[in-house]
Amino acid sequence: MNKRNLPPIPPEIEALVPYKPGKPIEELERELGISGAIKLASNENPLGPSPKAVAAMARALDGLHRYPDGAGFELRQALAKRYELAQEQIVLGNGSNEIIELLCRAFLRPGDLALAAAPSFLMYSKLVQVAGGRLKEVPLNDFRLDLKALARAIEPRTRLVFVNNPDNPAGTAFSGEEFREFLGQVPPGVVVVLDEAYIDFASDPQVAQGTDFLDHAVPVVVMRTFSKAYGLAGLRVGFGLGPVEIMDILHRVRQPFNTSILAQAAGAAALADEEFLQKTLQVTWQGLKDFYACFERLGLVYVPSQTNFVLVKIGPKASHVADELLKRGVIVRKMASYGLPEHLRISVGLPQENRRFMDELSAILGEG
Ligand SMILES: Cc1ncc(COP(=O)(O)O)c(C=O)c1O
Repeated sequence: MNKRNLPPIPPEIEALVPYKPGKPIEELERELGISGAIKLASNENPLGPSPKAVAAMARALDGLHRYPDGAGFELRQALAKRYELAQEQIVLGNGSNEIIELLCRAFLRPGDLALAAAPSFLMYSKLVQVAGGRLKEVPLNDFRLDLKALARAIEPRTRLVFVNNPDNPAGTAFSGEEFREFLGQVPPGVVVVLDEAYIDFASDPQVAQGTDFLDHAVPVVVMRTFSKAYGLAGLRVGFGLGPVEIMDILHRVRQPFNTSILAQAAGAAALADEEFLQKTLQVTWQGLKDFYACFERLGLVYVPSQTNFVLVKIGPKASHVADELLKRGVIVRKMASYGLPEHLRISVGLPQENRRFMDELSAILGEG
């Protein structure tokens, strides 16, 4: 095909760099001709999916010849009850990633600005770029979101401010008090997007809870997901909570059936699976403790985490160490694409997976 026959590709689209997800286990095993590899790279739930969600999906299978309920009544009802909100304050998404996309589609026009920390979740910049907007970035301060600097960085064309709490990739979190102070400095005309993908893992009771801020004069959209604590990353289901006026707009720009029958059934069931959530939290918090102890033994500096992963400073050899781990069947996340080439990000796995990672890491560092 002659490229000249194509319609013009907008420069911001041509410039897009595809998101590079953590390496799938199957791919690594194929490449190395090994089996039994483990993945501690994508902040997934190592326990598997919520069993109640799996049972609900099995029950829903017989209805797959029908389109889903476009309004997602059952799941939105369950969420409304859980968070004491009206259904009109809730929008479902194909993962919380889709909520980011809907916000960009709805609120950004070419030349508009969005604001986020640097580094932060890579999808903010990509989806802002797709919408023709520009992402302005404010550096983290000692691995914490600098809310004061973010507020100062708001310009007249700023439409969206992404704040990720607890933060990926740093793992740190701000308090409700800090967030309230920040909101006090946000001018009219700006939507604050509070990405709480990891909020379920926060062990510190001071950590801000977005649901406390949905009545604030500043429009706040809280994004949450079933991908992490509920173990449903492969299903793609997340949701946004916010003012009715904003949710109404997001419903208009979304596809009519953006969450599947299975996603809706599983989400509602997972929300009620308190036993699974508690087990997940225990495994996560114990795993973090074990990692911290290991890093301290090895003299490595890490960032204490309110999430299910931890950022650790390996030094100039970080990329080499990650490659060595890979050869030994342990997948962790390199951080160069986040501007942290000396760090690695490790997701908490099952106890035996964590042990294997720690043993391999100790061996590799011991080998110099
Ligand atoms: C900060 C943050 N936000 C959002 C997401 C998207 O999650 P999902 O689309 O699976 O709900 C992730 C996933 O890794 C994340 O780290």
